[in-house]
Amino acid sequence: MELTVEGIRDSIGAIPDYPKPGIIFRDITPLLQNPAAFELSINTLKQRYEQTGITQIAAIEARGFIFGSALAYAMGCGVTLLRKPGKLPGKVVSQSYDLEYGSDELQMHENALTANDRVLIVDDLLATGGTVVAAHKLIKATGAEVEEAAFVVSLPELGGEDKLQQAGVACYTLCQF
Ligand code: PRP
Ligand code: ADE
Repeated sequence: MELTVEGIRDSIGAIPDYPKPGIIFRDITPLLQNPAAFELSINTLKQRYEQTGITQIAAIEARGFIFGSALAYAMGCGVTLLRKPGKLPGKVVSQSYDLEYGSDELQMHENALTANDRVLIVDDLLATGGTVVAAHKLIKATGAEVEEAAFVVSLPELGGEDKLQQAGVACYTLCQF
């Protein structure tokens, strides 16, 4: 039977109490091990964005790198890395943020984007929205346009979709839990 977009949802695992008690960790590793589910995820995103003039995909470390770089290859655009602190070799701009289970910081090379870029932010999962709002701030400060933020999974109960709406960032997700 051919996989449908609904089938992508079925390929995502749920691990209770990881990394902390009370958290249900939505695990993308079974999706990645299922070639049909991975291919359909990338092709669905490609169809949505291929006519939008995206020049760069801003991919968020670490799980966002997997979907972001596969999508950039499929669409023929570049990948801009948004990394955890201390990983990028050049001069960086930084933005800290809170997570469902802690806090962290994102960095981007300061000259990575210009006002000529049209950027799609890609990550595996939207929870509280803290990560992607930090990414959006870093990107907007360069003058680049942000088309949308795209995710494989969203957890609406954690408020990320509302937070993105308040920040004026359009978002698209393949499935929700
Ligand atoms: C996870 C996930 C998103 C972020 C979502 O990354 O991949 O980037 O949390 O949470 P938020 O919407 O509440 O900000 P994590 O920081 O755990 O890093 P990893 O991808 O390196 O595992
Ligand atoms: N990142 C933040 N919250 C998460 C969750 N519940 N599952 C997987 N990744 C996450």
